[in-house]
Amino acid sequence: MNYEKRRTALLTDLKADAFLIFNLEGSDSVSMFYLTGFTGEGALLLSAKEASLMTDSRYTEQASREVPGLPVEEIKGDYLKEVTTMLKARKLKRVAVSSKRMTYYVVEKLRELFGGEIIAFEDPVMALRRLKDPEEIARIREATRLTEASLISLLGEIKIGISERELALRLEVIMRKNGAEKVAFDLIVAAGENSALPHYRPGTRRIKKGDLLLFDIGAQLDGYCSDMTRVFAVKEVLPQAREIYELVLRANQAGIKAIRAGASGVAVDTIARDVIAQAGHKEHFGHGLGHGVGLEVHEGPRLSPLSKDTLQPGMTVTVEPGVYLPGFGGVRIEDLLVVTKNGSEVLTSLPKNRLIEVG
Ligand code: GLY
Ligand code: MN
Ligand code: MN
Repeated sequence: MNYEKRRTALLTDLKADAFLIFNLEGSDSVSMFYLTGFTGEGALLLSAKEASLMTDSRYTEQASREVPGLPVEEIKGDYLKEVTTMLKARKLKRVAVSSKRMTYYVVEKLRELFGGEIIAFEDPVMALRRLKDPEEIARIREATRLTEASLISLLGEIKIGISERELALRLEVIMRKNGAEKVAFDLIVAAGENSALPHYRPGTRRIKKGDLLLFDIGAQLDGYCSDMTRVFAVKEVLPQAREIYELVLRANQAGIKAIRAGASGVAVDTIARDVIAQAGHKEHFGHGLGHGVGLEVHEGPRLSPLSKDTLQPGMTVTVEPGVYLPGFGGVRIEDLLVVTKNGSEVLTSLPKNRLIEVG
Protein backbone atom coordinates (compact mmCIF):
# COMPACT_ATOMS: atom_id res chain seq x y z
CA MET A 1 0.00 0.00 0.00
CA ASN A 2 1.38 3.42 -0.92
CA TYR A 3 0.70 5.30 2.33
CA GLU A 4 2.89 8.23 1.39
CA LYS A 5 0.90 8.84 -1.78
CA ARG A 6 -2.31 8.83 0.27
CA ARG A 7 -0.89 11.31 2.78
CA THR A 8 0.22 13.62 -0.01
CA ALA A 9 -3.21 13.40 -1.64
CA LEU A 10 -4.86 14.28 1.66
CA LEU A 11 -2.77 17.40 2.15
CA THR A 12 -3.24 18.60 -1.43
CA ASP A 13 -5.90 21.34 -1.43
CA LEU A 14 -6.35 21.05 2.36
CA LYS A 15 -7.03 24.56 3.58
CA ALA A 16 -4.94 24.20 6.74
CA ASP A 17 -1.31 23.85 7.88
CA ALA A 18 -1.78 20.29 9.09
CA PHE A 19 -4.23 17.43 9.54
CA LEU A 20 -4.69 15.73 12.90
CA ILE A 21 -6.19 12.32 13.62
CA PHE A 22 -6.96 10.77 16.98
CA ASN A 23 -7.55 7.05 17.18
CA LEU A 24 -8.43 6.31 20.78
CA GLU A 25 -10.62 3.31 21.68
CA GLY A 26 -10.98 2.70 17.94
CA SER A 27 -12.43 6.18 17.29
CA ASP A 28 -10.69 6.49 13.92
CA SER A 29 -8.84 3.25 13.33
CA VAL A 30 -9.67 3.33 9.62
CA SER A 31 -8.07 6.73 8.90
CA MET A 32 -5.00 5.75 10.91
CA PHE A 33 -4.70 2.42 9.07
CA TYR A 34 -5.42 3.95 5.66
CA LEU A 35 -2.76 6.63 6.02
CA THR A 36 -0.03 4.63 7.79
CA GLY A 37 -0.82 0.90 8.13
CA PHE A 38 -0.67 1.28 11.95
CA THR A 39 -3.32 -0.72 13.82
CA GLY A 40 -2.76 0.66 17.32
CA GLU A 41 -4.11 3.67 19.16
CA GLY A 42 -2.63 7.12 19.03
CA ALA A 43 -2.59 10.38 17.13
CA LEU A 44 -1.22 11.25 13.71
CA LEU A 45 -0.06 14.68 12.64
CA LEU A 46 0.40 15.31 8.93
CA SER A 47 1.82 18.46 7.40
CA ALA A 48 3.83 19.33 4.31
CA LYS A 49 6.95 18.85 6.47
CA GLU A 50 6.19 15.70 8.42
CA ALA A 51 4.13 12.67 9.28
CA SER A 52 4.41 11.98 13.03
CA LEU A 53 2.81 9.22 14.99
CA MET A 54 2.15 9.76 18.68
CA THR A 55 1.36 6.67 20.68
CA ASP A 56 1.88 5.27 24.15
CA SER A 57 3.96 2.45 25.60
CA ARG A 58 1.27 -0.13 24.83
CA TYR A 59 1.95 0.35 21.13
CA THR A 60 5.52 1.61 20.67
CA GLU A 61 6.92 -1.84 19.85
CA GLN A 62 3.98 -2.47 17.55
CA ALA A 63 4.63 0.86 15.79
CA SER A 64 8.26 -0.07 15.19
CA ARG A 65 7.04 -3.22 13.43
CA GLU A 66 4.11 -1.77 11.50
CA VAL A 67 5.40 1.69 10.56
CA PRO A 68 9.20 1.50 10.74
CA GLY A 69 9.55 4.54 8.46
CA LEU A 70 7.51 6.95 10.60
CA PRO A 71 8.91 9.00 13.46
CA VAL A 72 7.16 7.96 16.67
CA GLU A 73 6.75 10.17 19.75
CA GLU A 74 5.82 8.37 22.94
CA ILE A 75 2.97 9.91 24.91
CA LYS A 76 3.69 9.51 28.63
CA GLY A 77 0.68 11.21 30.15
CA ASP A 78 -2.35 13.02 28.78
CA TYR A 79 -2.82 12.64 25.01
CA LEU A 80 -4.62 15.92 24.49
CA LYS A 81 -2.12 17.97 26.47
CA GLU A 82 0.93 16.39 24.87
CA VAL A 83 -0.43 16.58 21.34
CA THR A 84 -1.34 20.26 21.72
CA THR A 85 2.17 20.93 23.07
CA MET A 86 3.46 19.41 19.82
CA LEU A 87 1.16 21.58 17.73
CA LYS A 88 2.38 24.69 19.54
CA ALA A 89 6.06 23.68 19.28
CA ARG A 90 5.66 23.45 15.51
CA LYS A 91 4.05 26.91 15.43
CA LEU A 92 1.04 25.60 13.51
CA LYS A 93 -1.80 28.10 13.11
CA ARG A 94 -4.62 26.17 11.41
CA VAL A 95 -5.04 22.47 12.11
CA ALA A 96 -7.70 20.46 10.30
CA VAL A 97 -9.65 17.58 11.84
CA SER A 98 -12.58 15.40 10.73
CA SER A 99 -15.90 16.32 12.30
CA LYS A 100 -17.23 12.82 11.52
CA ARG A 101 -14.36 11.01 13.21
CA MET A 102 -13.49 13.16 16.20
CA THR A 103 -15.67 13.48 19.25
CA TYR A 104 -17.07 16.83 20.32
CA TYR A 105 -15.17 16.42 23.59
CA VAL A 106 -11.79 16.07 21.85
CA VAL A 107 -12.43 19.04 19.54
CA GLU A 108 -13.50 21.24 22.48
CA LYS A 109 -10.43 20.25 24.50
CA LEU A 110 -8.11 20.87 21.55
CA ARG A 111 -9.63 24.31 21.06
CA GLU A 112 -9.20 25.06 24.75
CA LEU A 113 -5.57 23.92 24.95
CA PHE A 114 -4.28 25.04 21.53
CA GLY A 115 -3.93 28.75 20.82
CA GLY A 116 -4.47 28.37 17.05
CA GLU A 117 -7.47 27.44 14.97
CA ILE A 118 -8.99 23.94 14.79
CA ILE A 119 -10.95 23.62 11.54
CA ALA A 120 -13.37 20.75 11.15
CA PHE A 121 -13.90 19.23 7.70
CA GLU A 122 -16.44 16.45 7.26
CA ASP A 123 -14.22 13.44 6.50
CA PRO A 124 -11.38 14.13 4.06
CA VAL A 125 -9.90 10.63 4.48
CA MET A 126 -13.22 8.99 3.61
CA ALA A 127 -13.35 11.15 0.50
CA LEU A 128 -10.08 9.54 -0.64
CA ARG A 129 -11.06 6.04 0.46
CA ARG A 130 -14.00 5.97 -1.94
CA LEU A 131 -11.59 5.24 -4.79
CA LYS A 132 -9.84 1.91 -4.31
CA ASP A 133 -6.44 1.03 -5.71
CA PRO A 134 -5.79 -2.43 -7.23
CA GLU A 135 -4.31 -3.79 -3.98
CA GLU A 136 -7.41 -2.79 -2.03
CA ILE A 137 -9.67 -4.35 -4.65
CA ALA A 138 -7.60 -7.56 -4.48
CA ARG A 139 -8.19 -7.71 -0.70
CA ILE A 140 -11.94 -7.07 -1.06
CA ARG A 141 -12.11 -9.75 -3.76
CA GLU A 142 -10.32 -12.20 -1.48
CA ALA A 143 -12.63 -11.37 1.48
CA THR A 144 -15.60 -12.00 -0.84
CA ARG A 145 -14.18 -15.31 -2.03
CA LEU A 146 -13.66 -16.42 1.57
CA THR A 147 -17.22 -15.40 2.53
CA GLU A 148 -18.71 -17.33 -0.37
CA ALA A 149 -16.63 -20.45 0.26
CA SER A 150 -17.69 -20.34 3.92
CA LEU A 151 -21.39 -20.09 3.09
CA ILE A 152 -21.08 -23.03 0.69
CA SER A 153 -19.46 -25.08 3.48
CA LEU A 154 -22.32 -24.21 5.83
CA LEU A 155 -25.10 -25.27 3.44
CA GLY A 156 -24.80 -28.96 4.36
CA GLU A 157 -25.33 -28.09 8.04
CA ILE A 158 -28.68 -26.34 7.49
CA LYS A 159 -31.28 -28.70 8.96
CA ILE A 160 -34.82 -28.14 10.19
CA GLY A 161 -34.67 -27.32 13.90
CA ILE A 162 -31.32 -25.51 13.92
CA SER A 163 -31.55 -21.96 15.29
CA GLU A 164 -30.55 -18.72 13.61
CA ARG A 165 -27.85 -18.17 16.25
CA GLU A 166 -26.36 -21.62 15.79
CA LEU A 167 -26.13 -21.02 12.06
CA ALA A 168 -24.51 -17.60 12.59
CA LEU A 169 -22.01 -19.09 15.03
CA ARG A 170 -21.18 -22.01 12.75
CA LEU A 171 -20.67 -19.66 9.82
CA GLU A 172 -18.39 -17.41 11.86
CA VAL A 173 -16.30 -20.42 12.94
CA ILE A 174 -16.00 -21.55 9.32
CA MET A 175 -14.96 -18.05 8.23
CA ARG A 176 -12.29 -17.89 10.92
CA LYS A 177 -11.02 -21.36 10.02
CA ASN A 178 -10.82 -20.18 6.41
CA GLY A 179 -8.53 -17.35 7.49
CA ALA A 180 -10.82 -14.39 8.23
CA GLU A 181 -9.51 -11.91 10.82
CA LYS A 182 -13.05 -11.49 12.04
CA VAL A 183 -16.56 -10.99 10.73
CA ALA A 184 -17.00 -7.70 8.88
CA PHE A 185 -20.20 -7.04 10.89
CA ASP A 186 -22.53 -9.06 13.11
CA LEU A 187 -23.69 -11.76 10.70
CA ILE A 188 -27.38 -11.62 9.88
CA VAL A 189 -29.14 -14.98 9.74
CA ALA A 190 -32.91 -14.49 9.65
CA ALA A 191 -35.55 -17.19 9.31
CA GLY A 192 -39.17 -16.90 8.22
CA GLU A 193 -40.94 -13.75 9.41
CA ASN A 194 -37.63 -12.45 10.85
CA SER A 195 -36.23 -12.02 7.34
CA ALA A 196 -38.62 -9.07 6.95
CA LEU A 197 -36.34 -7.08 9.32
CA PRO A 198 -33.49 -5.72 7.15
CA HIS A 199 -30.93 -5.45 9.96
CA TYR A 200 -32.15 -8.31 12.12
CA ARG A 201 -29.99 -9.85 14.85
CA PRO A 202 -30.05 -13.66 14.91
CA GLY A 203 -32.08 -15.12 17.75
CA THR A 204 -33.35 -18.44 19.05
CA ARG A 205 -35.87 -18.95 16.24
CA ARG A 206 -35.46 -22.45 14.78
CA ILE A 207 -35.85 -22.96 11.05
CA LYS A 208 -38.85 -24.80 9.74
CA LYS A 209 -40.25 -26.01 6.43
CA GLY A 210 -41.36 -23.19 4.14
CA ASP A 211 -39.19 -20.52 5.79
CA LEU A 212 -37.25 -17.98 3.82
CA LEU A 213 -33.71 -18.12 5.22
CA LEU A 214 -31.65 -14.95 4.73
CA PHE A 215 -27.87 -14.70 5.14
CA ASP A 216 -26.37 -11.18 5.05
CA ILE A 217 -22.72 -11.90 5.69
CA GLY A 218 -19.19 -10.62 5.32
CA ALA A 219 -15.66 -11.37 6.44
CA GLN A 220 -12.74 -9.07 7.18
CA LEU A 221 -9.40 -9.99 5.68
CA ASP A 222 -6.22 -7.88 5.82
CA GLY A 223 -8.35 -4.99 7.07
CA TYR A 224 -10.85 -5.12 4.20
CA CYS A 225 -14.50 -6.18 4.31
CA SER A 226 -16.91 -8.06 2.12
CA ASP A 227 -20.70 -7.78 2.19
CA MET A 228 -23.25 -9.98 0.46
CA THR A 229 -26.75 -11.42 0.90
CA ARG A 230 -28.29 -14.63 -0.33
CA VAL A 231 -31.72 -16.05 0.53
CA PHE A 232 -32.79 -19.69 0.50
CA ALA A 233 -36.07 -21.53 1.06
CA VAL A 234 -36.21 -24.27 3.68
CA LYS A 235 -37.36 -27.56 2.06
CA GLU A 236 -40.20 -25.93 0.18
CA VAL A 237 -40.64 -22.78 -1.92
CA LEU A 238 -43.93 -21.04 -1.08
CA PRO A 239 -45.56 -19.18 -4.01
CA GLN A 240 -45.34 -15.80 -2.26
CA ALA A 241 -41.64 -16.41 -1.53
CA ARG A 242 -40.98 -17.23 -5.17
CA GLU A 243 -42.88 -14.14 -6.30
CA ILE A 244 -40.90 -11.68 -4.17
CA TYR A 245 -37.63 -13.49 -4.87
CA GLU A 246 -38.09 -13.13 -8.62
CA LEU A 247 -39.04 -9.48 -8.23
CA VAL A 248 -35.99 -8.66 -6.09
CA LEU A 249 -33.79 -10.55 -8.53
CA ARG A 250 -35.06 -8.40 -11.40
CA ALA A 251 -34.39 -5.23 -9.38
CA ASN A 252 -30.90 -6.52 -8.49
CA GLN A 253 -30.13 -7.26 -12.13
CA ALA A 254 -31.45 -3.88 -13.29
CA GLY A 255 -29.33 -2.13 -10.65
CA ILE A 256 -26.19 -4.04 -11.65
CA LYS A 257 -26.79 -3.21 -15.32
CA ALA A 258 -27.03 0.49 -14.46
CA ILE A 259 -23.65 0.61 -12.69
CA ARG A 260 -20.95 2.36 -14.70
CA ALA A 261 -18.63 5.33 -14.37
CA GLY A 262 -20.57 8.58 -14.64
CA ALA A 263 -23.89 7.18 -13.35
CA SER A 264 -25.27 9.00 -10.32
CA GLY A 265 -26.12 7.25 -7.08
CA VAL A 266 -29.69 8.54 -7.39
CA ALA A 267 -30.10 7.29 -10.98
CA VAL A 268 -28.93 3.74 -10.20
CA ASP A 269 -31.14 3.59 -7.12
CA THR A 270 -34.15 4.80 -9.11
CA ILE A 271 -33.72 2.18 -11.83
CA ALA A 272 -33.83 -0.70 -9.32
CA ARG A 273 -36.45 0.92 -7.07
CA ASP A 274 -38.82 1.43 -10.03
CA VAL A 275 -38.82 -2.32 -10.76
CA ILE A 276 -40.10 -2.94 -7.23
CA ALA A 277 -42.53 0.00 -7.26
CA GLN A 278 -44.07 -1.09 -10.57
CA ALA A 279 -44.86 -4.47 -9.04
CA GLY A 280 -46.79 -2.71 -6.25
CA HIS A 281 -44.18 -3.17 -3.51
CA LYS A 282 -42.87 0.41 -3.23
CA GLU A 283 -43.57 0.58 0.50
CA HIS A 284 -41.82 -2.75 1.11
CA PHE A 285 -38.38 -1.44 0.06
CA GLY A 286 -37.35 1.34 2.45
CA HIS A 287 -33.54 1.37 2.48
CA GLY A 288 -31.00 2.60 -0.06
CA LEU A 289 -29.91 0.35 -2.92
CA GLY A 290 -26.25 0.18 -1.98
CA HIS A 291 -23.03 1.54 -0.53
CA GLY A 292 -19.28 1.36 -0.89
CA VAL A 293 -17.34 -1.35 0.96
CA GLY A 294 -13.69 -1.20 1.99
CA LEU A 295 -12.02 -0.79 5.37
CA GLU A 296 -15.57 -0.25 6.64
CA VAL A 297 -18.58 -2.23 5.59
CA HIS A 298 -20.57 0.95 4.94
CA GLU A 299 -18.72 3.76 3.22
CA GLY A 300 -19.05 6.04 0.23
CA PRO A 301 -20.34 6.14 -2.42
CA ARG A 302 -24.05 5.72 -1.68
CA LEU A 303 -26.75 4.51 -4.03
CA SER A 304 -29.96 5.99 -2.66
CA PRO A 305 -32.59 8.66 -3.30
CA LEU A 306 -30.47 10.99 -1.12
CA SER A 307 -27.11 10.25 -2.70
CA LYS A 308 -24.91 13.08 -3.93
CA ASP A 309 -22.38 10.70 -5.47
CA THR A 310 -21.35 10.01 -9.05
CA LEU A 311 -19.70 6.66 -9.73
CA GLN A 312 -16.07 6.51 -10.82
CA PRO A 313 -13.89 3.59 -11.92
CA GLY A 314 -12.30 1.96 -8.87
CA MET A 315 -15.22 2.54 -6.53
CA THR A 316 -16.81 -0.51 -4.92
CA VAL A 317 -20.53 -0.62 -4.41
CA THR A 318 -23.18 -3.08 -3.29
CA VAL A 319 -26.46 -3.57 -5.11
CA GLU A 320 -28.94 -4.85 -2.56
CA PRO A 321 -32.61 -4.31 -3.23
CA GLY A 322 -35.10 -6.00 -0.91
CA VAL A 323 -38.79 -6.62 -0.45
CA TYR A 324 -39.90 -7.09 3.15
CA LEU A 325 -43.39 -8.36 3.98
CA PRO A 326 -44.13 -7.97 7.72
CA GLY A 327 -45.28 -11.24 9.30
CA PHE A 328 -44.24 -13.30 6.28
CA GLY A 329 -40.60 -12.63 5.49
CA GLY A 330 -38.27 -10.76 3.22
CA VAL A 331 -35.85 -11.19 0.39
CA ARG A 332 -32.70 -9.17 -0.23
CA ILE A 333 -30.16 -10.07 -2.89
CA GLU A 334 -26.86 -8.29 -2.37
CA ASP A 335 -23.90 -8.34 -4.70
CA LEU A 336 -20.62 -6.46 -4.43
CA LEU A 337 -19.18 -4.78 -7.52
CA VAL A 338 -16.26 -2.70 -8.67
CA VAL A 339 -17.17 0.18 -10.97
CA THR A 340 -15.32 0.16 -14.28
CA LYS A 341 -15.25 2.67 -17.13
CA ASN A 342 -18.01 1.02 -19.12
CA GLY A 343 -19.81 -1.03 -16.49
CA SER A 344 -18.71 -3.09 -13.54
CA GLU A 345 -16.98 -6.22 -12.36
CA VAL A 346 -19.21 -8.26 -10.06
CA LEU A 347 -17.07 -9.72 -7.26
CA THR A 348 -19.78 -11.94 -5.77
CA SER A 349 -20.35 -15.13 -7.70
CA LEU A 350 -22.69 -17.38 -5.69
CA PRO A 351 -25.68 -18.46 -7.81
CA LYS A 352 -28.82 -16.38 -7.36
CA ASN A 353 -30.94 -16.96 -10.45
CA ARG A 354 -33.55 -18.99 -8.61
CA LEU A 355 -34.66 -19.50 -5.02
CA ILE A 356 -32.65 -22.54 -3.93
CA GLU A 357 -34.07 -25.05 -1.42
CA VAL A 358 -31.97 -26.03 1.59
CA GLY A 359 -32.49 -28.25 4.63
N1 GLY B 1 -24.67 -6.01 5.85
C1 GLY B 1 -25.30 -4.77 5.95
C2 GLY B 1 -25.66 -4.23 4.65
O1 GLY B 1 -25.84 -4.96 3.72
O2 GLY B 1 -25.73 -3.07 4.45
MN1 MN C 1 -25.04 -6.86 3.66
MN1 MN D 1 -24.64 -3.94 2.27
